[in-house]
Amino acid sequence: MSEFKTVRGMRDFLPEEAKMMRYVEAQARRVAELYGYKEIITPVVESYELLSAKAGEEVRSRMFVFKDLGGRGVALRPEFTASVARLVATTLRNEPRPFRLFSVGSIYRYDEPQRGRYREIWQSNYELMGSSKPEADAEILMLTNSLMEAVGPKKIAFKVGHVGVLRGLFNQERLEDKVQNAVMQLMDKKQYEDAFKLVEGAGASEKCMAILRELVKLKGKNVGGVVDKIEDRVKGYEKSVEAAKNLREALELVSESGCKIEMTVDAGFARGLEYYTGLIFEVYVPSMDFALAGGGRYDKLIELFGGEPTPAVGVAHGIDRIMLAMQTQGSVHKIGGERKVVVIPIKEELRGEALKVSQVLRNTGIFVEVEVMGRKMAKALEDADRRKMDFAVIVGERELKEGAVMLRDLARREQSIVKIKKIAQVVKD
Ligand code: HAM
Repeated sequence: MSEFKTVRGMRDFLPEEAKMMRYVEAQARRVAELYGYKEIITPVVESYELLSAKAGEEVRSRMFVFKDLGGRGVALRPEFTASVARLVATTLRNEPRPFRLFSVGSIYRYDEPQRGRYREIWQSNYELMGSSKPEADAEILMLTNSLMEAVGPKKIAFKVGHVGVLRGLFNQERLEDKVQNAVMQLMDKKQYEDAFKLVEGAGASEKCMAILRELVKLKGKNVGGVVDKIEDRVKGYEKSVEAAKNLREALELVSESGCKIEMTVDAGFARGLEYYTGLIFEVYVPSMDFALAGGGRYDKLIELFGGEPTPAVGVAHGIDRIMLAMQTQGSVHKIGGERKVVVIPIKEELRGEALKVSQVLRNTGIFVEVEVMGRKMAKALEDADRRKMDFAVIVGERELKEGAVMLRDLARREQSIVKIKKIAQVVKD
């Protein structure tokens, strides 16, 4: 046995899993089309500077960073957003707004491997750039809900918040950006006491501290009620009040759309990435304590990359975790279902004929495998059963003269002579 194995945190996808992954990806692509998102393909390797600019300490410290042979500081992308923002700040600079851009593929984070946490991760990513309006935020929430509905994890719930509420407080208290970012990282990890200490240490007023302590307790499914309370608590902090109003507007639009989303508003909710400026959200299912998707509004990133001021909102769905949710909940049955046929020549001299028949069948859209192991008929049929093929096409001289073959229904264990040109009809019925 070879001693080679996958690198820690990396995984092989065997056929069943690969199929499931491509299924989720196909659904993600379909949702992109339904909502008007055009696919773009950006490089896995980008400059370290670009990727680290606003990634946040958590993601930044876990990037796969290296120098290429030309001595350039590069990294494997830890997300798609920076690459899409780069494109909009450069090549797409003069194109009309809004942009709706979709990407799907692998990203890399040096996270500690465990259930639902990997180092090579697959995301479907959607960015809506150019609009600051709450209907754009609403669209990203709705699109995420559409994908979850299409793919099948059950009992999904959204956690929603607004970065502007906390940032509004901190800015008015004149907390430095660096401190604010560190506080948000701690809040993302729910280390509230440490976060409070940092805010207090940076000279925040008692009023601010009192509000902060109340905010982290404010959460609930009564969306309107919680947002009202947030707005009430942050009185006197103008930007925070504005943020609460903005959150209300976006969530009301989702509700008006008729889209039924199970939602919890959480005033103390923060996300690890630093670029967020507005509404943020994550998607969960009951049996798992990690998010299946995450996103939010980031209005300053494209500017930061030297582009035109371009407000933006987006989301990334974790395909690996969506797959895990489907497996855990047993909702995988939707995938596949195509009829499969194996073509077996009754003797060696008919190998060419078997290949020819297989081509004819494939041209009519049937999934065909040919017996290539030179096995006797009984063994080949046994193998076809084991691999859950639906039909065997047995190629014999006598039938061929009539333009026919023996078609065996492997489940029913019945067989009959069928004209080759009629096989597609029988198999697909
Ligand atoms: P994120 O929350 O860092 O957001 O990642 C999005 C999703 O990727 C997570 O909810 C999770 O499902 C999956 N994910 C992340 N890390 C891992 C991991 N180590 N193992 C398994 N799954 C993981 C972003 O990436 C932002 N770029 C989203 C965004 C787009 N915001 C605006 N536009």
